[in-house]
Amino acid sequence: MEILNRLREATADIHRRIEKLPFSRRMLTGQISRREYTVLLQALLHIHQSYERILNACPALRTLWPQCPSRAAALARDLECLGVELNDRPGWVEEWISQIDALQEPMAWAGAGYVLEGSRQGSRFLAAPLAKALDLPLQMGVGLDYHLDNGPDPAQTWRAVGLALSNLATRLQNPNSIVAAAVITFENLHSLYRDISTLPQEIAQERSISV
Ligand code: HEM
Repeated sequence: MEILNRLREATADIHRRIEKLPFSRRMLTGQISRREYTVLLQALLHIHQSYERILNACPALRTLWPQCPSRAAALARDLECLGVELNDRPGWVEEWISQIDALQEPMAWAGAGYVLEGSRQGSRFLAAPLAKALDLPLQMGVGLDYHLDNGPDPAQTWRAVGLALSNLATRLQNPNSIVAAAVITFENLHSLYRDISTLPQEIAQERSISV
């Protein structure tokens, strides 16, 4: 089966579970507080920074992978706009990296790339309700770049990601490692969204950011 179809099949259930979480539902309906949104952005910054650092340090993967707008840079800009300080990299992010490294296939990181680039598809539906919830204009440079900075032709970039995945899958002895890395990444992100869903009420309802 084509690698993109295998990735979709292997991760469809986790994606559905993420979409059903209370935090995801509230993002979609514009009902989250700035405080809990910034908890998400802080964690995503560590995920994307780590992924982009690993991608750039692997020439074999970097050569095949398309140039996509840096989501780590977008997250750093958003946190600055929202007046939030950066925190230390949490232990579970180290654990996520170890889980993928344990597959002993550097190219498997393309599976994480599938998840992190693919999540831009959801951003198309999240940007507007988030702007409403955070009381921000729906534009770049105000704290929503993570969802809006998708380059001049997002559909073309996503096709290029699919092509890179196909190329990689034919070169690897064990393309299952790409699927395994995607599942590991999705599961870690599900845990993050689940944990934010259960933040104490006072944080979930806090309208202003305390730093
Ligand atoms: C929070 C709520 C979310 C919503 C409403 C959402 C919504 C969507 C939608 C509508 C698509 C396009 C489906 C299609 O074109 O058939 C999509 C694709 C995707 N989403 Fe999400 N998403 C969410 C969260 C996430 C998260 C947290 C991740 C992982 C970090 C993620 C990863 C993906 C991936 C990898 C795809 C591409 C699937 C493919 O075409 O192969 N999504 N999402």
